Amino acid sequence: DWNMPDYIEEAIAKVQAQVGSDEVILGLSGGVDSSVVAALLHKAIGTQLTCVFVDTGLLRLNEGQMVMDMFARNLGVKVVHVDATDRFMAKLAGVSDPERKRKIIGGEFVAVFQEESAKLKNAKWLAQGTIYPDVIESAGAKTKKAHAIKSHHNVGGLPEDMHLQLLEPLRELFKDEVRELGIALGLPHEMVYRHPFPGPGLGVRILGEIKKEYADLLRQADHIFIEELRASGWYDKVSQAFAVFLPVKAVGVMGDGRTYDYVVALRAVQTQDFMTAHWAELPYALLAKVSNRIINEIRGINRVTYDITGKPPGTIEWE
Ligand code: XMP
Repeated sequence: DWNMPDYIEEAIAKVQAQVGSDEVILGLSGGVDSSVVAALLHKAIGTQLTCVFVDTGLLRLNEGQMVMDMFARNLGVKVVHVDATDRFMAKLAGVSDPERKRKIIGGEFVAVFQEESAKLKNAKWLAQGTIYPDVIESAGAKTKKAHAIKSHHNVGGLPEDMHLQLLEPLRELFKDEVRELGIALGLPHEMVYRHPFPGPGLGVRILGEIKKEYADLLRQADHIFIEELRASGWYDKVSQAFAVFLPVKAVGVMGDGRTYDYVVALRAVQTQDFMTAHWAELPYALLAKVSNRIINEIRGINRVTYDITGKPPGTIEWE
């Protein structure tokens, strides 16, 4: 139990004592943890912090713009925005195995991040959004997948290669404390209470081979779903929600014509710990609205399904 203003003061003093006048690099993803680290470090060391935002081409709609607006324009944080879409798409062409896709995305992310960081010659520290549950998780022997998740998320392996020291100011905090800290630092509620988003991003929500065309369609569908969840008050009642791209074509009718287009599945789950989950019993009227909007607004998708699989036997993601 701690008092937030005191905690912020202490955390700032600790960071300042640790890094002195050194420069710090942070991989900013748009997720809660790295965003709170960015806000905290900006407050503590201002322009000694440089954030690197890597657009893999597999992020949600307008993610890069949101990060640049919130951190670069509003807060004045130094953010290097790297559009690496073409690199990722090239590496992923022809690959359909889920674990290979994860490996390629994680590996390419580290490569891009490392290249960008190498340009910041004075940096001595690598900041990470590691939180207390991550610390416990890597201490205990966990599954390979859980380990891969964290290592991608927190850019594991980089410090040794780059001769950077690790700076982990959220190491002692639980998720709800990180959120509280984010709010106290002035981050918007919408950002601090965002659903989790996997490191491989839309890469595990496009079944099989990834193509830019698929990612563009999926981004739009996902955005409509999230927009309607927020508008109806359901966003905060579910733990995670997203659309999945199914690379099969179905027949439909539109006006006088026949369509032959792709299918998306919607998934929304409620869970305490993401180890087990229930599919969310969203109102039919909400599902109907989302379905109509997706089909009317996106050329290329003509059918919407809702995933009613629990975990187990399903996983939350489709890959
Ligand atoms: P599953 O699909 O395993 O997901 O039921 C449980 C939680 O973990 C997230 N997830 C990932 N996060 N890299 C990540 O950073 C991954 O490869 C990955 N796979 C799943 C998923 O979004 C859910 O919150």
